[in-house]
Amino acid sequence: MGYKVAVVGATGAVGGEMLNILAERAFPADEVVALASRASEGKEVSYGDERVLRVRALESFDFEGTDLGLFSPGAAISKVHAPRAAAAGCVVIDNTSQFRMDEQVPLVVPEVNPEALERFRERNIIANPNCSTIQMVMALKPLHDLAIVKRVVVATYQSVSGAGREAMDELFDQTKGVYETRTPEAEHFPKQIAFNVIPQIDVFLDGGATREEWKMAVETQKILDPAIEVAATCVRVPVFVGHAEAVNVEFEHALEVEDARAALAEFEGVLLIDRPEAGEYVTPVECVGEYAVFVSRLRKDPTVPHGLQMWVVADNLRKGAALNAVQIAEKLVEEGYL
Ligand SMILES: NC(=O)c1ccc[n+]([C@@H]2O[C@H](COP(=O)([O-])OP(=O)(O)OC[C@H]3O[C@@H](n4cnc5c(N)ncnc54)[C@H](OP(=O)(O)O)[C@@H]3O)[C@@H](O)[C@H]2O)c1
Repeated sequence: MGYKVAVVGATGAVGGEMLNILAERAFPADEVVALASRASEGKEVSYGDERVLRVRALESFDFEGTDLGLFSPGAAISKVHAPRAAAAGCVVIDNTSQFRMDEQVPLVVPEVNPEALERFRERNIIANPNCSTIQMVMALKPLHDLAIVKRVVVATYQSVSGAGREAMDELFDQTKGVYETRTPEAEHFPKQIAFNVIPQIDVFLDGGATREEWKMAVETQKILDPAIEVAATCVRVPVFVGHAEAVNVEFEHALEVEDARAALAEFEGVLLIDRPEAGEYVTPVECVGEYAVFVSRLRKDPTVPHGLQMWVVADNLRKGAALNAVQIAEKLVEEGYL
């Protein structure tokens, strides 16, 4: 017997990938329901190569009898409808920022902290971390196990798909506009994104960091270790899909580059592609559609007693969002929770 699964936000950038990945990985679903806003009611979305689903309105959907809800409709919508689904007995895996720091909600990357799932019944909701956090903790975990990560300084290069479907359209339109000598109008992003980079993702907080930078710090602490300090600068770049990060890590204990290399190469979900002299390092366009988190340019940081630097790239819509959510669902099945 398979499960009844609802994909909430099915017309969006993440929701579309959720449907692709459920089909690709043959998740044991008997029925998949595509949900979005009322404005999308009746539209069609693909579920795998052969099946098409007709979108229904989240607002009037009754979650009774639905086993699993994969949510990505934005934080304000999840705030209302995820608890409603959870109360009807549907296990919710939420991709938005709404529940990530809720103490009763596990924040899970299955390769990193699967044990956190044990508590999911407290609210019947599991949170998927932020895309930039997921790929960073994937690369940190095997190194933390070897030498204890003390402090991380990270600069991100985040693609526009991280801000959704309309943000992708804005990069496309602005790029075209520049060639047609039209003045680009910024609607979704705070400044022009075509042929530019923007050191602002989400809003500014007291102290000068952005909310995205704050998320990277507190989510890493919740998932990996509350003692890890993270100084992040998050930057939006004119790339459609794929986030990159320049990560500088300081450890408690000595860690040789060769030992770090071996641990990363063995870690499930990480692919070490690192022969820069032969052109072997990964860029965002090369990670699109892939499941792995790619680590390249691993090297010693000689400016601190125990430091390493690396370049980490992943498909933000896949491992950064939809794939991680489906892997959580698979884990629930594997552990007999669903
Ligand atoms: N993109 C990423 O890399 C990424 C990664 C991790 C987490 N997230 C989070 O996932 C969420 C969605 O991101 P996205 O990139 O997929 O955004 P998106 O492309 O803008 O899609 C938003 C989805 O939410 C639906 N929606 C909006 N208002 C709704 C309502 N009132 N009721 C039901 N559904 C509604 C939209 O449906 P309509 O088409 O009907 O408007 C659409 O399906 C955000 O919270 C985001 O922070 C995104």
